[in-house]
Amino acid sequence: MITINTQILGEDEKSIKTAAEILRNGGLVAFPTETVYGLGADAANENAVKKIFKAKGRPSDNPLIVHISTPDMLPEIVRHIPECAKILMDAFMPGPITLIMNKNSRVGNAVTAGLDTVAVRFPSHETARRLISEAGVPVAAPSANLSGKPSPTIARHVICDLNGRVDAIISGGECSAGVESTVIDCTGEYPVILRPGIITYDDIKEYIPEIQTDKNVLTALKEGEAPKCPGMKYKHYAPDADVTVVEGEPSAVASAIKKLISENAGKKIGVLSCTGEKYDGAFTLYTKNGNAGYAHSLFTLLRGFDEEGVDIVFAEFCINDKYSVSVKNRLYKSAGNKIIYV
Ligand code: TXA
Ligand code: MG
Repeated sequence: MITINTQILGEDEKSIKTAAEILRNGGLVAFPTETVYGLGADAANENAVKKIFKAKGRPSDNPLIVHISTPDMLPEIVRHIPECAKILMDAFMPGPITLIMNKNSRVGNAVTAGLDTVAVRFPSHETARRLISEAGVPVAAPSANLSGKPSPTIARHVICDLNGRVDAIISGGECSAGVESTVIDCTGEYPVILRPGIITYDDIKEYIPEIQTDKNVLTALKEGEAPKCPGMKYKHYAPDADVTVVEGEPSAVASAIKKLISENAGKKIGVLSCTGEKYDGAFTLYTKNGNAGYAHSLFTLLRGFDEEGVDIVFAEFCINDKYSVSVKNRLYKSAGNKIIYV
């Protein structure tokens, strides 16, 4: 339902001032970050935060990340900073990482979905930092997509999903990482990765050898199982097309997909290829440069299949490198865990 006249803003001084004023007045502004675009509201304004859930169609039990422009904002948000969080902040902030800590009583229930903990992120993206700093308030922001859709990595994706639903969209360039921040729970004995990202397990292990990864990062939740990260239980990153991942050695993956193409004749077929293989009878989109490139372009390419009107997508997964877990986490979710191992 189109109800709001959405302003499309730039990254110039005047635009940032306008966007900051919208935030301070309880409105919604989408903005670029180094990971994906976010949809922001003043984190201290319950009504504004509730508008985010409405605009995205997001379930109210899925908490939001609070974004800051300086660590000085932290005392307004968290009760105390655990030792491991201090180490991670020194090593990786500002940057594509989110830390979960015990929340301060001033943080409202809409942001945290009633949890005692809060997720905090200090982005490195210039525009994001200028916006938060100009607004002068911590900014609650999920990814700026309709709930369930691939996260937006260019302004066009945001406009496509949220035009008419939010007050303003800051049109910046393409997000450099292309996948969302690494989310780490810092409230337990050891830090635990709840969502992998461009800052990887190995990167963190150099600073905290005890770092762990939650078992549900690559495994589907069992029926009725409560995840540590509420977002894990929802459908994610799904284009309109039905996605299946085909995983294994490149030549085996290519033959399996060729067979699947011939078995599905009559449907409009898409292939997401990381190997450069040619597929007759399929609309093929290519990722480049290993899994860093796969992560960077994954959401854009998933949306590309919808733009082409594809019915089913077979996604190759063949490369193992330091970003494998981050790519597989998104791919498996976009496929609703339909994976063929060959
Ligand atoms: O890179 C990013 O993190 C982007 C940009 C905009 O900053 N944001 C983003 O937000 O990806 P969102 O809402 O799409 O994903 C946040 C994830 C959700 O899965 C949510 O369940 C989880 O973080 N989360 C938030 N607060 C949490 C908490 N207190 N405990 C556990 N998980 C939490
Ligand atoms: Mg999201």
